[in-house]
Amino acid sequence: MVTEHYVAGLDVGTTKIRTVIASPEEGKLRILGVGLVPAAGLARGIVVDREQATAAIKESVHRAERMAGLQISGAYVGISGAHIACRNVTGRIHLPGGEVTPADVEKVIQSARDNIRTTPEQEIIHALVRDFAVDGEPEIKRPVGMRGSRLDVEVHIVIGVGSIIGNLQDCVRETGVQVLKDVLEPLATASAVIKEAERDLGVMLVDIGGGTTDVAVFHEGSICHTASLPVAGHHVTRDLAQILRCSPEHAETVKRRFGAALTDLVTTEELVPVVEVGTETPRMVPRRLLAEIIQPRMEEIFSMVRENLQSAGVYEAVRGGVVMSGGGSQLAGCERLASVVLDDLPVRVGAPHGLAGLSDSVQTPIFATAVGLALLAAQEGAWAAPGQPGRWESVVEMATAWWHRTVSPWFRKRSR
Ligand SMILES: Nc1ncnc2c1ncn2[C@@H]1O[C@H](COP(=O)(O)OP(=O)(O)OP(=O)(O)O)[C@@H](O)[C@H]1O
Ligand SMILES: [Mg+2]
Repeated sequence: MVTEHYVAGLDVGTTKIRTVIASPEEGKLRILGVGLVPAAGLARGIVVDREQATAAIKESVHRAERMAGLQISGAYVGISGAHIACRNVTGRIHLPGGEVTPADVEKVIQSARDNIRTTPEQEIIHALVRDFAVDGEPEIKRPVGMRGSRLDVEVHIVIGVGSIIGNLQDCVRETGVQVLKDVLEPLATASAVIKEAERDLGVMLVDIGGGTTDVAVFHEGSICHTASLPVAGHHVTRDLAQILRCSPEHAETVKRRFGAALTDLVTTEELVPVVEVGTETPRMVPRRLLAEIIQPRMEEIFSMVRENLQSAGVYEAVRGGVVMSGGGSQLAGCERLASVVLDDLPVRVGAPHGLAGLSDSVQTPIFATAVGLALLAAQEGAWAAPGQPGRWESVVEMATAWWHRTVSPWFRKRSR
């Protein structure tokens, strides 16, 4: 097969590192290669051991490359962790020419960015336009060319700690892959599993990973809140290991095979085998006990999500429902429990769909972030030709790539 272009998404998760390489096919992504390896050197979404993390990223990338039969030179990389903060800010400029120009649009976004106060260690990762207003008239989607004397913008700013992001970038670069763009993970995930109509109505994405539960809220078509909470699937496994006195590895197996997020789903009679530390013969324990351990922790996660949205003042904006992703969402009864804690909102588990090629392996909630990263790269025109590792090194190509990645998608997005 001759592949002219490809995009790559790299999801460096706390439990797994996933690489997805894809090419365009009639407006869809054709999945060419997938790399899934256990994570190492990561905790709570951040790098804690550079050497280990680099080796694991390299292995994931190599597996995807071998499957795709091509070498990647760059990828969109997901970032997450409790160091991430978000704010909605406004910017305003006067229009001396009486008409909005592309330069005015850049200037007004910059004025919003200037209104954000960051600490010396923080940097702005995303400045996502929510809305423009010309002479006080809101909900303007494409301001360029409109007449007026004042341009306002509302922007969702995502901030992170520069050194934490830099550590991940260094690990990726050491594998020979350029970080074409850092993307907040829930934004990437949302692009793979949330529908346009849901964004318009108001929807919350909850990605329950190993170390973090990532949240993104969309309202009236645009992002209005993002958060990363430091409680997720690992905590459930740890609770099981402590109470059942077994190893974390065994607790993980037991959770996946017999676990449930709701006690109601499990009868009191059923018994399941659990091997305690220091023994070899399994002890039979009521399956219901597993659910009794898991349910409170899952309730805690959903309560934290609700409180986070309430304190940000966006909980009322998500009447359209909840879309869950990540490995933690695969527990039996997870959707029902989420709906109970989140005041009966409709809940569904989202997985990437509408893909071609080797799509079977990635149409699952645990690949939503990696596929979403590849999708965003495709939407933003960050295609690269295979076997050309120096592609981004010429100044002209870098400038063209920057235009395609940064400015052109923005115009495309606003013109939709
Ligand atoms: N079938 C399953 N049933 C229950 N839990 C599961 C299942 N599959 C995976 N998990 C849990 O999902 C979690 C991992 O999810 P995921 O792979 O989305 O995390 P990650 O992306 O590596 O981590 P993070 O997003 O936190 O950085 C683990 O805690 C694991 O136990
Ligand atoms: Mg994840």
